[in-house]
Amino acid sequence: MAEPGDWTNPLRDERDKRAPRIAGPCSMVIFGVTGDLARRKLMPAIYDLANRGLLSPSFALVGFARRDWDTEDFGRIVHDAVREHARTEFREEVWDRLCEGLRFVQGSFDDDTSFEELAKTLAKLDEDRGTGGNHAFYLSIPPGAFPTVLSQLSKSRLAQPDENRWRRVVIEKPFGHDLDSAKQLNAVVNQVFPEESVFRIDHYLGKETVQNILALRFANQLFEPIWNAHHVDHVQITMAEDIGLGGRAGYYDGIGAARDVIQNHLLQLLAFTAMEEPIAFTPAELQNEKIKVLSATRLVEPLDQTTSRGQYAAGWQGGEQVAGLLDESGFAKDSKTETYAAITLEVDTRRWAGVPFYLRTGKRLGRRVTELAIVFKRAPHLPFDQTMTQELGQNALVIRVQPDEGITLRFGSKVPGSGMEVRDVNMDFTYGESFNVSSPEAYERLILDVLLGEPSLFPVNDEVELSWRILDPALEHWAATGAPEPYESGTWGPDSAQAMLQRTGREWRRP
Ligand code: BG6
Repeated sequence: MAEPGDWTNPLRDERDKRAPRIAGPCSMVIFGVTGDLARRKLMPAIYDLANRGLLSPSFALVGFARRDWDTEDFGRIVHDAVREHARTEFREEVWDRLCEGLRFVQGSFDDDTSFEELAKTLAKLDEDRGTGGNHAFYLSIPPGAFPTVLSQLSKSRLAQPDENRWRRVVIEKPFGHDLDSAKQLNAVVNQVFPEESVFRIDHYLGKETVQNILALRFANQLFEPIWNAHHVDHVQITMAEDIGLGGRAGYYDGIGAARDVIQNHLLQLLAFTAMEEPIAFTPAELQNEKIKVLSATRLVEPLDQTTSRGQYAAGWQGGEQVAGLLDESGFAKDSKTETYAAITLEVDTRRWAGVPFYLRTGKRLGRRVTELAIVFKRAPHLPFDQTMTQELGQNALVIRVQPDEGITLRFGSKVPGSGMEVRDVNMDFTYGESFNVSSPEAYERLILDVLLGEPSLFPVNDEVELSWRILDPALEHWAATGAPEPYESGTWGPDSAQAMLQRTGREWRRP
């Protein structure tokens, strides 16, 4: 008898969403295959998907780069990347199958013949392996190179879908450096690929803990009734990193923390936290709600008091002495690039009126942690002796995106003893204890969704533009106010960040 979940089982319900989602025949071309992202994230994620049986046996991966490699060299590079960075165990038979579908095309972006060669390679794969003419083009390249590559894809007719075969493009941030440039960039992309074929990667949306914000809010009765301005005092969204920027000057100098992280990851976290419940869990309805909430979001002024911008100076981290940004290689001695940014936002809706959302991110901070804290108002009245509640803080629900993935609820509890002394305690959920499977990497989930044509976790252009509209005034303000404030590596950022909350009697959490 056929087992449940068996694809040959005639009784299997096609609508059973618990059945694994397996991508159909297709190939993926990576431009920028010699880069760090491809090696550390993309290639390992593709192997992990293959290992989990989620790719079609005919799947093909094509690398395109200027490097003087052939397919064999490319195979070695992918192999090493997989051995070093894959999440799941290495299995020879999976690797061998994946390896059969690897190809490398050597060429430069402005050379027509390289793209003819790419088209031939893909056509041959369609013929030999049955990839069905379905191709995803992953642009893991600087946005400056987008127009050239896109026009080549168009010229060589590789961007052209038809009824029976799809063509998709995957793009990585930065999606512009302000609203105007984002609009221009998008116009370039949409000239070649229609919006429904464009998949913009925000890898935070691929994280289980981020998707779980929606489950927490909309699958439970417990939280939603208090998820509003009547009960919430403020929200803190933190993405702190302990690493510095050694080796990343090429990308980061001139970009800075706000463009690198707030414009995308943190504003997406805010959207998930503040949006209304979508009327259905479909890509269009999810996007609608995110667009609505981002349209209602604005910076709180005056910006010299409600924002903060810093740059790490030398200091101690993890027992080691580390250099300041200005001494990292590749950064100019007078670089004004910020490595820390914090802003205050408000969401002008009935649900959130008057509730500040504080967003902060930085490099070389006290420790690596990304969390979202909903901090509740104090009880309107305490019947206890004041001395007994001195150690009672505000209730908080903290979603730990990483590390120690989970959720903590903080509330007051009686300290055992004869008096009514009340102190904060934590109630904890951790993924590790509740589920005995390790979570897929963000890129695993997102690459699979690209191949399945499932757009829910990819911000649409309107979201990107709205995010720039929110952030632009802060960027302009900072550009007009000179250098960022230095902070010692290993601390929690510049003094102005502390002052930003203190002005309303609040303080940042120390995660
Ligand atoms: C990237 C940023 O988007 O996210 C990096 O460009 C940052 O600067 C990285 O280090 C952090 O990602 P994660 O998944 O390690 O939190």
